[in-house]
Amino acid sequence: MVKTILFLCFVALVICSHVAFAFDSAPLQDFCVADFKSSARINGLACKKPESVKAKDFFFRGLHLAGNTTNIFGVKGTPVAVDQIPGLNTLGISMVRVDYAPRGINPPHTHPRNTEILTVVEGSLLVGFVTSNPENRLISKVLDKGDVFVFPVGLVHFQRNVGLGNAVAIGAWNTQYPGVITTASNVFRSNTPIADEVLAKAFQVDQSIVDLIKSKV
Ligand SMILES: *[C@@H]1O[C@H](CO)[C@@H](O)[C@H](O)[C@H]1NC(C)=O
Repeated sequence: MVKTILFLCFVALVICSHVAFAFDSAPLQDFCVADFKSSARINGLACKKPESVKAKDFFFRGLHLAGNTTNIFGVKGTPVAVDQIPGLNTLGISMVRVDYAPRGINPPHTHPRNTEILTVVEGSLLVGFVTSNPENRLISKVLDKGDVFVFPVGLVHFQRNVGLGNAVAIGAWNTQYPGVITTASNVFRSNTPIADEVLAKAFQVDQSIVDLIKSKV
């Protein structure tokens, strides 16, 4: 009996470890600093010659600086991903500073390829994500300084500053370059718009309301 349980645990561990390595699998060299000039098309960016790599390829300065939140949402993200640190190429990790004006929101969006872990370093945020169909359950919490929350890969999530002053959060992603799908602009502001009739039926509203939203997002 005990042996059977141990065997099942072992099998579960092997299966889970395969799942865990499904994203950004282990690099095959010490590093692969991105060569932005290369036209090679691979899953990521081509590597610079290792002997030409310098400390600056692994370096970014300025995350202590507040982002400019003067915009309609009152939010500014300062990513530190492969575009900022070429040495992140193939390493499956990156980070971001997010500044929020009072009542600012980071509108509902998803990262199709990565999970996000976020900690509040100043202020208070209402955060949440929504599970997939058919449940569509909102999982939400107010975070204060030092609190940490996770947004699982692919799920729609948001943040709102619910404190009196500015808020600041630091997030991390298990990818060198997070893709972002902002729900409203993705659906209502696609390049070549989705036909009004499609959106009117999907949202069960008049086409005039679809046009109104299209003009704003
Ligand atoms: C912040 O952004 C706004 C809007 O783009 C701009 O008018 C303002 O000058 C910026 N402030 C700073 C300090 O850069």
